Amino acid sequence: MERKRVFSGSRPSGRLHLGNYLGAVENWVKMQHEYDCVFAIVDHHAITTPFDPRELQTNTRDMLVDLLAVGLDPSECTLVIQSELPQHTELAWILGSITPIGWLQRVPTFKEKSEMHPDNVNLGLLSYPVLQAADILLYKAEVVPVGEDQLPHVELAREIVRRFNHRFGDTFPEPEAEVPRHTARIMSLTEPEKKMSKSLGPDSYISIGDDPETVKEKVMKAVTDTGPTSGEMSPGVANLFTLLREFGDEKQHREFLDEYEEGIIRYVDLKEATAAAIIDTLQPVRKRRQKLLQSPQRLREIMETGHERASTIACTTLREVKERTGLGPGREF
Ligand code: TRP
Repeated sequence: MERKRVFSGSRPSGRLHLGNYLGAVENWVKMQHEYDCVFAIVDHHAITTPFDPRELQTNTRDMLVDLLAVGLDPSECTLVIQSELPQHTELAWILGSITPIGWLQRVPTFKEKSEMHPDNVNLGLLSYPVLQAADILLYKAEVVPVGEDQLPHVELAREIVRRFNHRFGDTFPEPEAEVPRHTARIMSLTEPEKKMSKSLGPDSYISIGDDPETVKEKVMKAVTDTGPTSGEMSPGVANLFTLLREFGDEKQHREFLDEYEEGIIRYVDLKEATAAAIIDTLQPVRKRRQKLLQSPQRLREIMETGHERASTIACTTLREVKERTGLGPGREF
């Protein structure tokens, strides 16, 4: 039986941190064995908010290295850099021409980002979801693994599909979002009410490439509270427990939880155990990262293979779209 096609993209925001990893990428690593997956580093999306060209270059490379280091296997899935396949933007133009502006103005992320960067409310930011739809449709993906925040974008892609198919004939399947059931929400180590994110400062997150000393330092500095209470666990302590559950073993997690409930827990011990569990898990990842960083040739080869595979699919879809819409090939003079 043919495996279902999956597509997802990740903005090249730099190195992956534990929040990104447990939130999305861990799921990609699993899916690559069960589906026909295409994963993209979406640098055209990244330039819709303020950016620095040099940083974008290194961030794109770092994202690729990190995705490979955590286990994406180029022989199991197809990896692409969005800007290297012009079919993404070409399809986006065609889809953009059947997408009412009103649909786009209602998208929550457009509103948020326009407020965040009032001096840079550009056309790309508005049409961001159209490009995202093009990413998905170019590969006729049926399943799109994403975080909760991306659901409005996938819904918009479905509306675009319905409109396109209605007007030009059945061309695309309606993609379905898949939000992983088990997603640990990892919070900032310094401001545990907020999601782990690079924007909260270097002590607030752990990169998957951080060395053991750095991991230890950051975990030891993590915000906790003055001690267990009978009420709800404070967000900082709860976050340490989540990390220990995700990276350590069940038994240890249980023991600390018991100690917490009895009110005899020492947070230093909890932190030490959590740091050790993270360090252990990240050790092979760090090794793979270092190896990849030393072999740019290997990275280039991986991208070439990915692009070759992706562009065969992309060209076929685009040819079909252009035929149906009266653009390009098939025209008779
Ligand atoms: N917008 C997504 C994000 O910010 C990234 C993305 C771009 C994407 N194109 C996609 C995700 C297509 C899924 C499918 O996370």
